[in-house]
Amino acid sequence: MYSNKKDLIIFDETDVVLASVDETMEYAERFAAGLEAGAFIALIGELGSGKTAFVNGMARALGINEPMTSPTFTLINEYAAAVPFVHCDLYRLNNCDEVFELDIERYFSYAIVAVEWADRCLDIFPDTTHVINIEIRDERHRVLRHGRIHRNG
Ligand SMILES: Nc1ncnc2c1ncn2[C@@H]1O[C@H](COP(=O)(O)OP(=O)(O)OP(=O)(O)O)[C@@H](O)[C@H]1O
Ligand SMILES: [Mg+2]
Repeated sequence: MYSNKKDLIIFDETDVVLASVDETMEYAERFAAGLEAGAFIALIGELGSGKTAFVNGMARALGINEPMTSPTFTLINEYAAAVPFVHCDLYRLNNCDEVFELDIERYFSYAIVAVEWADRCLDIFPDTTHVINIEIRDERHRVLRHGRIHRNG
């Protein structure tokens, strides 16, 4: 369980075992099919757990065909689609102020926003944030859990 000073994440009891990259992408595709503009997805999981694979599956469901890598210098990339998709990666973040500078809220009116390494700065995200946690079980298997942010403050 992740927490900062005042918030924690409550995870669903059911976990989902994903046995390959393709399974992770297909799972993400089904998940994204049910989302609307304004949805905020916070991805949490260690290096190489499959966060970007999940984001690529989401993109496929939204009709975006270009493969996405993690935004390296920009922190944030926007992809055009019927419902636009915004991909953000906070791995290189130095402090939470930099997230405020990204002004992520401006996307909420029209886009679906997915953020890798969101636990680096969880408190700025909306209460409706959908958390996806991915753990590495072994070389090919990942364990995914859905969660929600619980505010204590
Ligand atoms: N079941 C699986 N689901 C997703 N990826 C898997 C799975 N099994 C193996 N992999 C491998 O794990 C790696 C996941 O890479 P990916 O870039 O998606 O991770 P990430 O969590 O985004 O890493 P980073 O923290 O560096 O951004 C890939 O090399 C992929 O082939
Ligand atoms: Mg990544």
